[in-house]
Amino acid sequence: MIKKGDVRPIKAKPVPVAKVLKSEQEDVPAILRPQTLQSYIGQTNVKEHVQLMIDAATQRKSVLDHILIHGGPGLGKTTLAGIVAREMSGQFKVTSGPAIEKQGDLAALLSSLEFGDILFIDEIHRLRPAVEEILYSAMEDYVLDLVVGKGPTAKSMRITIPDFTLIGATTKPNMLSSPLRDRFGSMIKLDYYSESEMEDIIVRSAEILGVKLDNEAAVLLASCCRRTPRIANRLLKRVRDFCLVKEIDFATRVDIESTLIILGIDNLGMNKLDRDLLDVVLNKFDGGPVGLKAISAAMQEDEDTLAEICEPYLMQVGFLQRTHRGRIVTDEGKKYLLVNPI
Ligand SMILES: Nc1ncnc2c1ncn2[C@@H]1O[C@H](COP(=O)(O)OP(=O)(O)OP(=O)(O)O)[C@@H](O)[C@H]1O
Ligand SMILES: [Mg+2]
Repeated sequence: MIKKGDVRPIKAKPVPVAKVLKSEQEDVPAILRPQTLQSYIGQTNVKEHVQLMIDAATQRKSVLDHILIHGGPGLGKTTLAGIVAREMSGQFKVTSGPAIEKQGDLAALLSSLEFGDILFIDEIHRLRPAVEEILYSAMEDYVLDLVVGKGPTAKSMRITIPDFTLIGATTKPNMLSSPLRDRFGSMIKLDYYSESEMEDIIVRSAEILGVKLDNEAAVLLASCCRRTPRIANRLLKRVRDFCLVKEIDFATRVDIESTLIILGIDNLGMNKLDRDLLDVVLNKFDGGPVGLKAISAAMQEDEDTLAEICEPYLMQVGFLQRTHRGRIVTDEGKKYLLVNPI
């Protein structure tokens, strides 16, 4: 019998072989996801921070404090949360902000937790305010404060739930309300990876996917995956397709270049949407400043896609600037468009 205060043994059941084979065919990302902190490449400070929290919680025989992980899409938030759950030997229960519609949904989820479980809420900035309120007392005191019934007969109820850890993930930490943000014991920011870390990620993923490539090929791939592991893995899968169809056993720089041409991605990792955005700001709005709404209307493209996927990278390579008056194409951006016209 496990008492409160004990760290629970690993609960994960072995996955039947048939299921593993099926998931490998259907869901390549699952096999590419690192399972331990050691195999999670880069993010050195983050790993030290997380390891310290895990060691301290284990020594204290207590649950891990709540963690908020933020950073751009595909940088490894979900992967890191899964690793933390594995290292803490807790069950990993996954949901997302928009999936929880009512207070009752979250209350049911919270009351199904066991001591030491990890509840992962992806896109936590999209929780509805009424739902979010339930989390406050759950995170702080491990209790659920619920109101049952309506009108004058309504009664408030307090239910105790087991100690658990909430891991929230978001690409937009500023959209979290401060009462929610303040209840996280740690805020972890994932940064873009360096090119050498990207090379390590590519070499690791290539080995798992059975893609053989030389060093030059890995360096080129690393330079055009926007310093984002998910993009690296996606490009690598297309290189694997290219090699299979062209009957190439060992991919070289030339094979990577051919694959990139087919995908419409250049050596900087810029794709058609990025180039279109620069082109629209430069040629339809005289290089800016122009607001995101106007750009999105001119391109007929979703604002969030432009703001979350294109702009961070365009700013990182120095082609676009975000000012309080709007977006501006830099001189570097203009030079780039001259050399790479639409
Ligand atoms: N540090 C890392 N080392 C090696 N591979 C990584 C690392 N981080 C992420 N990956 C790979 O990148 C893929 C995307 O990571 P993940 O799904 O965790 O990103 P995310 O930040 O949760 O993205 P989103 O914001 O879209 O939810 C994973 O499948 C994993 O294979
Ligand atoms: Mg994720």
